[in-house]
Amino acid sequence: MQQSDPAALPLEKKASLLSGGDFWSTRALDEAGVPAVVLTDGPHGVRRQRAGADHLGFHASEPATCFPPAVAVGSSWDTEVAARVGAALGREARALGVGVLLGPGVNIKRSPLCGRNFEYYSEDPLLSGVLGAAFVRALQAQGVGATVKHFAANNQETNRMRVSADVDERTLREIYLPAFERVVTEARPAAVMAAYNRLNGVPASQHSRLLTDILRAEWGFEGVVVSDWGAVGDRVAALAAGLDLQMPGPDTANDAAIVRAVHDGVLAEAVVDASVRRVAELAATAHAAAAGPAGATDASEAAGTVGAVGDALAAEHHALARELAADCVVLLKNEGNALPLVEGSRVAVVGEFAVDPQFQGGGSSLVNAPCVDTPLAALRALGHTVTYAAGCTQDQALDPEALREEAVRVAREAEVAVVFVGLRGETEGSDREDLELPAEQVELVRAVAAVAARTVVVVSAGGVVSLEGWHDDADAIVAGWLLGQAAGGALSDVLSGVVNPSGRLAESIPLRLADNPSYLTFPGEAGHVRYGEGVMVGYRHYETVGRAVRYPFGHGLSYTTFSTGELAVDVTGDDTATVRVTVTNTGDRAGKHVVQVYVATAAGPVRRPARELRAFTKLALLPGESRTVELPLDRRAFAYYDVEQSRWAVAPGSYTVQIGESAGRVVAEQTVTLTGDTTAVALSLDSALGDWLAHPVAGPLLQQALSAGATEEQRRGSEANGDLIHMIASIPARQFLHFPGITLSTDDLTRILETTR
Ligand code: BGC
Repeated sequence: MQQSDPAALPLEKKASLLSGGDFWSTRALDEAGVPAVVLTDGPHGVRRQRAGADHLGFHASEPATCFPPAVAVGSSWDTEVAARVGAALGREARALGVGVLLGPGVNIKRSPLCGRNFEYYSEDPLLSGVLGAAFVRALQAQGVGATVKHFAANNQETNRMRVSADVDERTLREIYLPAFERVVTEARPAAVMAAYNRLNGVPASQHSRLLTDILRAEWGFEGVVVSDWGAVGDRVAALAAGLDLQMPGPDTANDAAIVRAVHDGVLAEAVVDASVRRVAELAATAHAAAAGPAGATDASEAAGTVGAVGDALAAEHHALARELAADCVVLLKNEGNALPLVEGSRVAVVGEFAVDPQFQGGGSSLVNAPCVDTPLAALRALGHTVTYAAGCTQDQALDPEALREEAVRVAREAEVAVVFVGLRGETEGSDREDLELPAEQVELVRAVAAVAARTVVVVSAGGVVSLEGWHDDADAIVAGWLLGQAAGGALSDVLSGVVNPSGRLAESIPLRLADNPSYLTFPGEAGHVRYGEGVMVGYRHYETVGRAVRYPFGHGLSYTTFSTGELAVDVTGDDTATVRVTVTNTGDRAGKHVVQVYVATAAGPVRRPARELRAFTKLALLPGESRTVELPLDRRAFAYYDVEQSRWAVAPGSYTVQIGESAGRVVAEQTVTLTGDTTAVALSLDSALGDWLAHPVAGPLLQQALSAGATEEQRRGSEANGDLIHMIASIPARQFLHFPGITLSTDDLTRILETTR
């Protein structure tokens, strides 16, 4: 279709393009050559519905591969994993006639209770942003648009469509925005989805600072801002703020409101035109992608037609899902080398999760997986002699005592018991109330561990669960997260040593929920959730206040061992450095190691977290192999957000670059001194006297003027009182003028100010 300038259309037509054509598509405008495009979920599988549309997972969708959800991908710490998921989703989206996918989600895991944490990568913005960007690049290389979501500060499900996330500016800039910033600036996603919640009182979908000033003016975003499904309250305010496309549609009342607002002079037609052009452009590019198979064996014949993921692609992607999922598994504990299972050993498999695995969460990301691996079948297929007992069940009709006894019996007879536990029912739309596993599962673990020669526990959950009360009973613990449809195969590969585990925690596992920094304010009250912990989210808090955790962010074991050798940090500019570090596989198996680079500093006038992740990379090493990696640390690796100056600042001072096996275990470090920002802070009459005196130009002039106007007695007094400067440092210059004996005037200060400009 040849597109003409859609802005030349009548206003009514243009307005109609700004709400969806139906639940999952934009509207086609044939007269301007604008096709319709399908946008659908989501982040770990294509949820293409034929009929009976909904965004909450009630109605079925076409079969599509369920890849590991973001909670798992986050734990891989591997851009390759994120990229391969993105590329595969691109292939399936094309096959199913989908032009734009609604993912990835890069919101920060502020609280482990957030019911949607399984759709997000990490509690750390760098890890979230780097993985999100890798996903977007790979997805869009297939011609399918990505939608990074939910912009911004959407960190809970409770009251999600109304709650105001009250976040101070520094916290927003340092914690909640950087993952979006990185994805937008580095990977250029086709779309950004405005969140349901309010940010500091203003609905995210009507937040012009967020959607226009920051997203477009600062970050250079040129794509489409789409609403979350049903997020728009005031359509005209949303459009004026920068929200291009309202979904779902159609919404003729809101289209008419746009027309009226233009006629009434409340909204400039140029705003409508800009959004119309963006939507039309997205439709054109995404339509072209969905129309052509390029790589997919069986794309839909015409764009927008519901195609199918053919058998060959489905089989290839199932194998890929298994391979990728295995790299996301985190081995938390492995006492006495309980794992890997010895070949051919007698294994008691206990727990319903072994036959009915939990491999994804509920809600809009729910994928209709065509086949699901179970751990039990997969372990058998790998040649182990396996007996099985459910141990406990949600089925009220069965006798819990008898079930547990049966589990204890099979565990006693085996060489090793593997207990599969986890959470059911995690879903978008609600938060969890605690971190606990169901009590009957904890009892089961303890009962089995009391008799088994060795006990391995595999946890399947979309977020952190507490390990307390049973941690010490288990010889080995495996965090299996939600791993997608090939979870069973991936877990059995790791348990058996076919794959050496290499995942690392992307979120801290606390000892108690109450230790989490958001504990006192999550999920808020009276319509507000106050992000009172500021930048001290997750490990930033635990490490800064020295709070013990069960397992720190970044922790994860392997069947081999690694050593970190020489570290060299070279300062490459006023505010940049390069880190070089050598890692050796000191064990007897091939394995993957994550190099984690943290920066610790007290430089600058703001409270800094004890350390912050600033770079990472994952390396595959053969037994005995050593590799030296070089990682650049850019300005942002050392910066804090200076709220008064509305800019990133690097304070002059010393910075310790640390290599951590986790956020809690530093294995090498080197301190460097950075020149930092030498440009002086802009002064005003309301700046504190301390800032005036510290200013390279204004300071000496003020000093001179003060001594010139001082009496002999004042001079003597000030010399005798060495602390005077500390006493007056915080007084605003303007107010200082009114102190007795000060002979300076506003004009004097203004003259000095002018010399600084
Ligand atoms: C979710 C989005 C999703 C949309 C469409 C909403 O409920 O918050 O993440 O993309 O539905 O399904």
